[in-house]
Amino acid sequence: MRLKNILHLFSEDVGIDLGTANTLVYVKNKGVILNEPSVVAIKSKTREVYEVGGKAKDMIGKTPNAIEAIKPLKDGVIADYEVTEKMLRDFFKIVHKKKFFTNPRVVICVPAGVTQVQKRAVMDVAKEAGAREAYLIEEPMAAAIGAGLDIFESTGNMVVDIGGGTTEIAVISLGGIVKTTSLRVAGDKIDECIVQYIRKDHNLLIGEKTAEEIKVNIASATVLGDELEYEVRGRNVLSGLPRNITVTSKEIREAIEELIYQMIEEIKITLEKTPPELSADIYQKGLVLTGGGAGIRNLDKKISESLEIPVMVADNPLACVVNGIGKVLQSFDKFKDVIISPETDY
Ligand SMILES: Nc1ncnc2c1ncn2[C@@H]1O[C@H](COP(=O)(O)OP(=O)(O)OP(=O)(O)O)[C@@H](O)[C@H]1O
Ligand SMILES: [Mg+2]
Repeated sequence: MRLKNILHLFSEDVGIDLGTANTLVYVKNKGVILNEPSVVAIKSKTREVYEVGGKAKDMIGKTPNAIEAIKPLKDGVIADYEVTEKMLRDFFKIVHKKKFFTNPRVVICVPAGVTQVQKRAVMDVAKEAGAREAYLIEEPMAAAIGAGLDIFESTGNMVVDIGGGTTEIAVISLGGIVKTTSLRVAGDKIDECIVQYIRKDHNLLIGEKTAEEIKVNIASATVLGDELEYEVRGRNVLSGLPRNITVTSKEIREAIEELIYQMIEEIKITLEKTPPELSADIYQKGLVLTGGGAGIRNLDKKISESLEIPVMVADNPLACVVNGIGKVLQSFDKFKDVIISPETDY
């Protein structure tokens, strides 16, 4: 069945966090009903989908020639349109198996400050999926709403959403984004950095999935009371043979330090460009971290010490964006001005 037909079966409004690393789907009055890695394994010859989501992610770095594991989004935007559409189609099949819906309105997030063409591509994917109406919302706005910030108040709010592809920094006041920056330094860059470090300092080749495991298990932004260790398996560069090594949180912290510094620098620059009344509010109230990257140990502490600003990690940071879109769906009238309507903006 075509995706169009499948989505026509939806009766409720649907919110989608189409992320570089993870895709989450929220159905109005139901909550988050799908949360899967944004990965597709396809058969190279026929371009047919073999697996999507978690099962496809498990195949990264392990696929035979006949199958490719693809992450169709890069740096927060669609890099492979065809595969993104296939992925969404399969996700909707999964959603559809759980509930019965027709004709949804879809609200889908995009990083702040992407081009019209990139926005259009996301809208088109949703439309081709059969959405009756498709709306966009800027990711940091959704993150702020999902983190529980009152975006309508007249003080400055700052949210920093560290995802797989981008770190989105935004200052929000009176229901609008006042300043925003999108930095292509986030989870994926940290993983790449760990791959390079392990290769250079340990002569060991590891894949990006192993690097991500190291990051999630031991990465930190400041010295830890009890430093951690993690054992990984890779291939020795010189001998070509498999070998196990133990890496420490200290060495990983030093390896990724420069990237953490770049994020902090960007937050600082954004604060400097923010009107003084609003930045004064933020220095007093603090900023909120969302997205998977907020899980890096002591990142809040590091930002707080470097910029002399209070920093909070949102509850359930990986779900802030989709929960924010969910709140928009539940109170469409209240939030209608924060969504980007195709009729008025294109
Ligand atoms: N506990 C953790 N510590 C550090 N990093 C983590 C942790 N948990 C998840 N991550 C990382 O967070 C990233 C995924 O976060 P998230 O789902 O917010 O990104 P995304 O929304 O898919 O990406 P983007 O918003 O950039 O398009 C991945 O890089 C993942 O490795
Ligand atoms: Mg995201």
